[in-house]
Amino acid sequence: MTTPLRIAVIGAGSISAIHLQAYADNSQVQLVAICDKNEARAKEKAEKFGAAKIFTDYKQLLADPDIDAVSICTWNNSHAEISIAALDAGKHVLCEKPLCKTVAEAKLVEEAVHRSGKVLQVGFVRRYADNTQILRKFIEAGDLGEIYYAKASCLRRLGNPGGWFSDIEKSGGGPLIDLGVHVIDICWYLMGKPKVKSVSGNTYRKLGNRANVQNLSFYQAADYNPDVNDVEDLANALIRFENGASLMVDVSFTLHALKDEIGVKIYGDKGGAEIEPELKITTEKYDTILNMTPQVDQLSFDFVKGFANEIGHFVNSCQGKADTLSPVEDGVEMMKILCGIYESAEKGVEIQF
Ligand SMILES: NC(=O)c1ccc[n+]([C@@H]2O[C@H](COP(=O)([O-])OP(=O)(O)OC[C@H]3O[C@@H](n4cnc5c(N)ncnc54)[C@H](O)[C@@H]3O)[C@@H](O)[C@H]2O)c1
Repeated sequence: MTTPLRIAVIGAGSISAIHLQAYADNSQVQLVAICDKNEARAKEKAEKFGAAKIFTDYKQLLADPDIDAVSICTWNNSHAEISIAALDAGKHVLCEKPLCKTVAEAKLVEEAVHRSGKVLQVGFVRRYADNTQILRKFIEAGDLGEIYYAKASCLRRLGNPGGWFSDIEKSGGGPLIDLGVHVIDICWYLMGKPKVKSVSGNTYRKLGNRANVQNLSFYQAADYNPDVNDVEDLANALIRFENGASLMVDVSFTLHALKDEIGVKIYGDKGGAEIEPELKITTEKYDTILNMTPQVDQLSFDFVKGFANEIGHFVNSCQGKADTLSPVEDGVEMMKILCGIYESAEKGVEIQF
């Protein structure tokens, strides 16, 4: 029996509930504390999930010797600052995506990881999903051959979450940094994480947040406020890798599309696969094309199971039983891609690395 890992969650808004549930369900964990600027929110979550301590200042929480590891579920503009402070205080860190807002911040986090020797896992939750890990086995066995192209879409027709999400100071950007980070990462991970060579992107601010639309609900920040909106509503990009592979992506908070759309597809020289909307694999055998549907419980991304797997893996990594699947280096590379796309869109040129 290993001693339980003593956990605190910083940021008690929407996504914290799913971290907290996964910790509560993990027998290796003792939930100790919850912190939020908003005391009532921290208190409510602490009561619901049985945490003995609440804090409104993360620095006080980090000074507590009874905490081994933290989940950071705050706004994007505090991810780097809190991660670095936590690592320097000797805590392991599970940081929600995106790792931070800029490449410079990402490198500071990376330095803190090396300096502290602690685990930092970036919240690329889709890597931990069952459908991703099933597909990984096929890829690792060579069934898809060399993956040379991928295509990722996450288009919301109405879904600007407002509040901090649409305030560029707090979020670092709109759908690209919020949704694009997931779908770009999952393609990149399945492609074997080739080094990025260049990016060319476009961003658009054409439709506003469409807070006027009635009778259609959508995901909102814990402190929803439609008044501030200075992020893009659509982004697209072409990402080139040093091994010659390429990835096309488009993501939106709002778009005059007939419906929401999610698609994550990878293409190799022996076979191809879709992981969103559902896991499917295609190949050719004896001059015949075969489309294959794995017979598994869940063919698409299972939110609750994905987070349970991610948090289970984090706990094992902190206890020295596993290596994280999403280390800080991958967070740095992802920030290079995302920030490169924003820079390309702003300057109207391709960015070379
Ligand atoms: N992996 C996923 O699928 C997924 C899904 C949703 C959100 N997220 C990420 O999780 C993070 C939080 O998103 P959310 O939807 O829960 O937002 P939210 O607005 O619902 O909650 C954020 C909470 O953090 C608190 N907070 C902000 N800065 C703080 C600080 N410095 N100290 C203490 N508390 C602070 C706020 O008061 C708020 O209660 C974001 O980085 C977001 O990108 C990830």
